[in-house]
Amino acid sequence: MKLSVRTKSALSAVEGALIIGVFEEDKNLPGWIKSLPDKVDLLLKNAVKEDDYKGKFGHTLLVRGSANSKIRKILLIGLGKRDDWSEEQARKAAGKSRTALKSFRIRKVASSLFGWEVDPSIAKAQVEGFILSGYTFNKYKSKKAENNESIEIGSLEIINVFGENVAPLKRAVKLGRVFSDGAILARDLQAEPGNTATPTYLAAQARKIASASPRIKVKILDKTKIKKLKMGAFIGVSNGSQEPPKLIVLEYRGTSPKHKPIALVGKGITFDSGGISLKPGAAMEEMKYDMSGAAAVLGVFKALSELDLKENIVGVIPATENLPSGTALKPGDIVKTYSGKTIEIINTDAEGRLVLADALSYTIKNYKPSRIIDLATLTGSVVVALSTHATGIISNDADLTKKLIAAGETTGERLWELPLWDPFRDQIKSDFADMKNIGGKGGGTITAAALLENFVEDTPWAHLDIAGTAYLSGSLDYSPKGPTGVGVRLLLEYLSG
Ligand code: BES
Ligand code: MN
Ligand code: ZN
Repeated sequence: MKLSVRTKSALSAVEGALIIGVFEEDKNLPGWIKSLPDKVDLLLKNAVKEDDYKGKFGHTLLVRGSANSKIRKILLIGLGKRDDWSEEQARKAAGKSRTALKSFRIRKVASSLFGWEVDPSIAKAQVEGFILSGYTFNKYKSKKAENNESIEIGSLEIINVFGENVAPLKRAVKLGRVFSDGAILARDLQAEPGNTATPTYLAAQARKIASASPRIKVKILDKTKIKKLKMGAFIGVSNGSQEPPKLIVLEYRGTSPKHKPIALVGKGITFDSGGISLKPGAAMEEMKYDMSGAAAVLGVFKALSELDLKENIVGVIPATENLPSGTALKPGDIVKTYSGKTIEIINTDAEGRLVLADALSYTIKNYKPSRIIDLATLTGSVVVALSTHATGIISNDADLTKKLIAAGETTGERLWELPLWDPFRDQIKSDFADMKNIGGKGGGTITAAALLENFVEDTPWAHLDIAGTAYLSGSLDYSPKGPTGVGVRLLLEYLSG
């Protein structure tokens, strides 16, 4: 989709569909609609009156252009009350307006800049909402939809209805595109089925991302190397599968190598059957999404190639399947991790923490990062606690937590902190090894984090459990049903801050 920013005078030349944001307080419509051609302003005034349209948040009203007008459709989108206005409201309103236009054969869309004054962060949010809400994944459907869904919106113009200056908005619109494209890549990778998105496939994606930027390097460690490094937990999980595991390492160089990097670690289980502790069949297909943390890291790196961040950033992805077989891990087995610490396996379905344990130690030992953030679809418990409405965050560093939570408020990817207290640590004490891989009844999200904590040493660390937020079973605002790409915009916001 082509994106551009236009000045107020462009209102006289709008083609296709025009979206106009209306606050409840503006129910008589904003004054600038006088600049529209073909007396569209009168059409709008009549329609608003006839339908008693009030601009309530998310409410839309479609008005058709007059017979000869280049504007075919005008969509009013309610922005709600000014007091409730925010970037997230702008994202939602843009998403809802795109959804409302879905059934029309529209190729060109223009939208008024939402809000009541020039605000670049709102322009960025509008672009995000518009791009993200239009997401579809249909590459495996042999018959392309014959209906209107196949009509793609080719261009979006954001019109600065407040004046003739577009300079400050151009960068914002580009950022909106780059953030969204990162999230869309993550969604595409998440959506790929497990028989395509294997560890080898993820490694190839990482190579592709690195080859697009001179500042990104990639290293892929294969099974022989992973074994040689004695990553007993990671290898243990991969042993159940025929599909070769990969440890994928991406390095982004944005400043002098003297600066310690920020590390991002993403769980890359390309299919989680549970292993010998096999999961029940219901909804097991969703476990193709168990690489959503990895997808988020790859989405961030794709975006990094188009941003100019003055940070060094390293991304690490332990990628493998978790399957049952004669060579799979068994309950009762004890693995020796890369760090030397041992873990007793009680349940082979608690595999994410095993691969992350080795990936976290590897990252800290080899990169000495200033902070480390991991993203993982780690526990069903976090879905019980927070549903799809927030990612759980557990951390050993208050400042990092505060900044990540703030970034989440900005991007609309909410985080909620859970406490890592000693009694949770006690839950994973083992009779036979340094720790065991599950903590028994209760607090499952936290006991998983309590295990990871053993592998981060003194490094400021935050663990994001995205099991509830990585994919949706029904559409929500600007995220259609399916993969959300959660974490990409959040981390980009954090890294840009
Ligand atoms: N990948 C799952 C967690 C998950 C659950 C992700 C639901 C997305 C939706 C993870 O590997 C897992 O199986 N966790 C177990 C841990 C248990 C055995 C202690 C769980 O949460 O049930
Ligand atoms: Mn599992
Ligand atoms: Zn898993």
